[in-house]
Amino acid sequence: MIAEKYAEEIKGIIARFPNKKSAVLPLMHLAQHEYGYMSQEAMREVAEILDLDPTQVLSLSGFYSLYYEEPVGKYVMEICNDLACALRGADQFVDMACRKLDTTVDATTEDGLFTIKTVMCLGACDRAPMLQCNLKFEENLDEGKFDQLLARLREEAVSEQKSPSIVEKIVAYAK
Ligand code: FES
Repeated sequence: MIAEKYAEEIKGIIARFPNKKSAVLPLMHLAQHEYGYMSQEAMREVAEILDLDPTQVLSLSGFYSLYYEEPVGKYVMEICNDLACALRGADQFVDMACRKLDTTVDATTEDGLFTIKTVMCLGACDRAPMLQCNLKFEENLDEGKFDQLLARLREEAVSEQKSPSIVEKIVAYAK
C-alpha cells in the first residue's frame, strides 16, 4: 500500500497543493513506480488517498502517455517520432532500437528490462533522435549512443532493484 510505504512523501506532495485532489498526477507516478504500472489496485489506492472516484484516475491514466495501464519493462523507452523528429530519422531509429532489442513497439523484451513506445513531441525537437527513458531525456542519439545506453541500463539493472531516486524525482516534480 503506497499510503503506508510512502506516507511522508505523500503528505509532502499533498501539502504543496491548495486542493489535495490536485496531487493526483505525482501520486499516480508514485503508485506506478511501486506497482510497475497503473494497475487497478494502484488506481484505487490513489483515488482513495485523494477522495477521488477511481474512474477519474483511470481517465487521467488513459490521457497521459507516461502512465501505463499494462505491465512494462523496468526501462520504458519512449521514442518521439512526431514530425520534427521523423524528419531527423526517428522512424529509422525506432526500427533500429526494436531490432537491437528483438522486440516491437509496445512490447517488452523477454528479460523484462525494456519496453519501447513511440510518443508525440517531447519538446526536444532540435535534439532528435531522442527518447525519454524513465523520465530522463537521451538526446542526439545514433546507433552507437543507443548501444551505450543499453549497456549502461543493463549494468544499472544488475546493481539495483528499484532506485529510490525515482521517488525523489516524483516528489521534486510536485514542487
Ligand atoms: S517532434 Fe520530437 S521532440 Fe518534438
